[in-house]
Amino acid sequence: STDRTLNLAVIPGDGIGPEVVAQGLKVLEAVLPQDVKLETHEYDLGARRWHATGETLPDAELERLKEHDAILLGAIGDPGVPSGILERGLLLKLRFAFDHFVNLRPSRLFPNTDSPLAGRPDIDFVVVREGTEGPYVGNGGSIRTGTPQEVANEVSVNTAFGVERVVRDAYERARARTAKKLTLVHKNNVLVHAGHLWKNTFDRVGQEYPEVSTDYLHVDAATIFLVTDPARFDVIVTDNLFGDIITDLAAAVSGGIGLAASGNINPDREFPSMFEPVHGSAPDIAGSGKADPTATVLSVALLLRHLGFEAEAARIDEAVTADLAERAGTTRSTQETGDALAARVAG
Ligand code: NAI
Ligand code: MG
Repeated sequence: STDRTLNLAVIPGDGIGPEVVAQGLKVLEAVLPQDVKLETHEYDLGARRWHATGETLPDAELERLKEHDAILLGAIGDPGVPSGILERGLLLKLRFAFDHFVNLRPSRLFPNTDSPLAGRPDIDFVVVREGTEGPYVGNGGSIRTGTPQEVANEVSVNTAFGVERVVRDAYERARARTAKKLTLVHKNNVLVHAGHLWKNTFDRVGQEYPEVSTDYLHVDAATIFLVTDPARFDVIVTDNLFGDIITDLAAAVSGGIGLAASGNINPDREFPSMFEPVHGSAPDIAGSGKADPTATVLSVALLLRHLGFEAEAARIDEAVTADLAERAGTTRSTQETGDALAARVAG
């Protein structure tokens, strides 16, 4: 067999980022087949770099990042960096430059984990959030800034092309799942222009997927059902802003921030996709060994699945499920959890 190489860019970032990424890489090494060679290249990006040099993401590094098969990111940021600098200059810049139009966030309530919801509902759904349009593109401005007459606009951009490609991706994901159900979340009773583009596209593309059952919810109603009846969801497709908000709610009801994984995906594979835990750099626990690396390990599973390593991704999911049962009621360090997961996927 020909030797394969997985050429991975690693952005450990700040705070607990490097701590959890080290465990993610440990599990990745352990799960990869013998004939796959893992090559990693580390990029020093984030708050520490910005404090040192004022740089967020220099173009030369953006070019080099393009050469990798995928990117694993820990977390970026610390309280000393003004809000918006790293979000716009690094995270959103990467998302737009690499056309990460699918932001994927699975939510599953694993056995032996806590949910704030009574009765431990059966939660297993995935949110497909649009990643390159909506109100996040920086299409806005203000005039008379700082005066009582200030006017500020933040225009939500929705293109037929952009909506169709993410809706199509969501149908593909729904078709591949057992329940085969896709819910569109929007607010088309008020945001009628964008809402109708989304709903019409959703209905039209849906004709090509007769095996997928569909549903529509306004975003406010969706927040109610995410709490009262999360079992009703299988795949959710939604715009950038609604997706940002409901995925945090989804993470909260399904085991919390230590378990929430995500992928910023370019399904066309023109550019590397980026995988990261949903949580941030957690400065309050950085250096204490308390960070749970499981969200990063589950992000590695998403990465593997995206690159076609389905069996290896499934092994990680099984290892996490088994490990959560074993660790219930104990206190583990970051490294102990990483070691336990690496041992399970290897064995
Ligand atoms: P955060 O997610 O870093 O922390 C929120 C709370 O959750 C803290 O109490 C923290 O200790 C806890 N927590 C987070 N991850 C954990 C883990 N793996 N194990 C155990 N506990 C964990 O959010 P916060 O405090 O709002 O932001 C801290 C910094 O991270 C800020 O600079 C923020 O801008 C940045 N951030 C970066 C993100 C990214 O890189 N994509 C995402 C969110 C925040
Ligand atoms: Mg968020």
